[in-house]
Amino acid sequence: MPEARHLIDVDSLDDEELERLLERACALAGGARPQRLEGTVAGVFLEPSTRTRVSFQLAAARLGLHYVHIDGERSSVTKGESLEDTIDTLAAMGIGCLVLRLGENGRCRRLADSLQGPPQLVNAGEGTVAHPSQALLDAATLMARGLELRKLKLAVVGDIAHSRVAASGLKLWQRLGVAEIRLAGPESMLPEAAGGKRVKQCRSLAEAVADADVVMMLRIQRERMADEARPDAECYAEHWCLREAHLERAHPGCVVMHPGPINRGVEIDPAVADGPRSLIREQVRMGVFTRMAIFEWLLGLPCRP
Ligand code: CP
Repeated sequence: MPEARHLIDVDSLDDEELERLLERACALAGGARPQRLEGTVAGVFLEPSTRTRVSFQLAAARLGLHYVHIDGERSSVTKGESLEDTIDTLAAMGIGCLVLRLGENGRCRRLADSLQGPPQLVNAGEGTVAHPSQALLDAATLMARGLELRKLKLAVVGDIAHSRVAASGLKLWQRLGVAEIRLAGPESMLPEAAGGKRVKQCRSLAEAVADADVVMMLRIQRERMADEARPDAECYAEHWCLREAHLERAHPGCVVMHPGPINRGVEIDPAVADGPRSLIREQVRMGVFTRMAIFEWLLGLPCRP
């Protein structure tokens, strides 16, 4: 029997699957007809979410899938039931696919390894280590604009150390051959092992943005820091808030991304977030198509653009 597919991180996809999935997300965004899928998907979210939760729900609906949302705080996990037993319970009800948002690093892989059969798992954000659907939708957003990823200088700025978006993104950008990946942020927010193919660290926002084609801003992940480690928002903004003046040094066609939620005036100035270079709303829009492509890859026929 073939091994069940799960989306644990971007490396759950081989190169061909990755290319097809991104092309499929772009095709769906361009009006391609979605597959009709059957079955029931459940979302179990043990951490808060707006974008990811709603877009997985919408993606399922557009493919004809039934979707049940389970709010962790209202689930029997709060009564001491293990997540393994919750999953077993959902599988007994015929849930074929489970979208999971978890706080604990490595949990999604361990859960997948413990399964003998359904459900198939989709990681919808896990601690500080993985958020594959966000990384995929970010790449699809740039591809849908006709940008050639191999030619891009991409700056990732902010709290990289605690960002699961950055963790999955860094793997993906390198696999997709992005020309140069610049990392910048306060020292305490830079990853310990920030090396890798075509990755370089910058000491300031100005240095990261200079001649960049894409600037991706990240929020401070306050929920993952001890009280004493949380920076003062005003001090942080003085050095790390992206303003229009910074972008004067960027490539003329430079676009600005942010996975959201944004903290206006902390890591991104409202004029930039709402300005003509901003792809933030486009990222959200592409999130639905990318998650449709993910469900098609997991549950459907072989995915073709
Ligand atoms: N980008 C992202 O994961 O946002 P949510 O936490 O709102 O889902």
